[in-house]
Amino acid sequence: MDWLIPLGDIDFGEEEESAVLGVLRSRWLTMGGVSQSFEREFADMVGARHGIAVNNATAALHLACVACGIGPGDEVIVPSLTFVATANAVRYTGATPVFADVVSEDDLTISVESIEKCLTEKTRAIIVMHYGGYACDMPAITAFADQHGLAVIEDAAHSAGASLEGRGLGSWGKVGCYSFFSNKNMTTGEGGMLVTDDDAMSDKLRNLRSHGMTAMTWERHKGHAWSYDVTALGYNYRIDEIHSAIGRVQLAKLARNNARRAQAVAQYNDLLQELVPAVQVPFQSYRGVSAFHIFPILLPKGKDRLAFMESMKAQRVQTSIHYPPVHKFSAYAGLDRSSRPSLPVTEEVVGREVTLPLYPGLTENDVLTVVQAVKQAMN
Ligand SMILES: Cc1ncc(COP(=O)(O)O)c(C=O)c1O
Repeated sequence: MDWLIPLGDIDFGEEEESAVLGVLRSRWLTMGGVSQSFEREFADMVGARHGIAVNNATAALHLACVACGIGPGDEVIVPSLTFVATANAVRYTGATPVFADVVSEDDLTISVESIEKCLTEKTRAIIVMHYGGYACDMPAITAFADQHGLAVIEDAAHSAGASLEGRGLGSWGKVGCYSFFSNKNMTTGEGGMLVTDDDAMSDKLRNLRSHGMTAMTWERHKGHAWSYDVTALGYNYRIDEIHSAIGRVQLAKLARNNARRAQAVAQYNDLLQELVPAVQVPFQSYRGVSAFHIFPILLPKGKDRLAFMESMKAQRVQTSIHYPPVHKFSAYAGLDRSSRPSLPVTEEVVGREVTLPLYPGLTENDVLTVVQAVKQAMN
């Protein structure tokens, strides 16, 4: 499809190319010095003590669950309005995800009130997801978790560079998980990162990331180790030097690119005023500093969403949906929800949400074109 304005676009240039070339010419491709620098720089950006780079955020979420001791018989509270990976990570461990609602049509992040209703004696953790790069109510969520002895894992896939009360999103809970998939605010193609302030948790995550081995190829290459023990049933969730090199360049561009996203969002908000309240624009108020990962709108009740998206497509403007709710997927049909709280806000918004294009290179003219197309599609 030849889009006039795609949903997203990456900001790649000569810097990424020469970073990759530098790695290739170094002849060291697996996790080593470049990955260590990437971990240090990313953790510093978030304001966390440790960064542990992995091959994607799904792996990061799985590792976080394993390292928090989650397993069969446990329950983990998650939003349904998220990418399926958030809930899948729980199921990989044998535990059961329990779905909580979001706050309101304006605030699409997990609701503390709904979390409270999901609590049982089996609950071990809460995974929050900072929808669109907008912070969940972390002071209230962490206070509730502390009161009940629950771990908080942050799915920060949307929120690289976002913060709340001066603390990076991802650094509020026990572990934060980031994605560097190709549509994210900073990308390495595939890639991810865990952050934590907890030294023991960091050691555990590093160990589990690489088969539970006590020494890596890099340490043996450096002459620091001859052999190794395997101390846990781990995984191969390692990143490599090529992805890390791209990540370092992308990280250096993150603040500038998030500021560009913020400008586009401000312009969208301004221009879409004409269509409000028929069209709703979530996150008119929000906590802290957003990463502005996606730009969601809610169509009027009863408006045919498919017809709207078809009209946008005919005008060569790409749109998307964030998200089909996880609890409605066929693969989740077997989970017993009979005694669970209902999800009225999630069920209200999921049929009406449409995501408009947002990326750092989106110009003022592009935003005008998208809004024109929205007006046309509304008729
Ligand atoms: C909210 C959320 N969680 C998790 C993931 C999984 O990330 P990855 O593709 O890096 O495994 C994504 C990526 O699309 C996401 O948007």
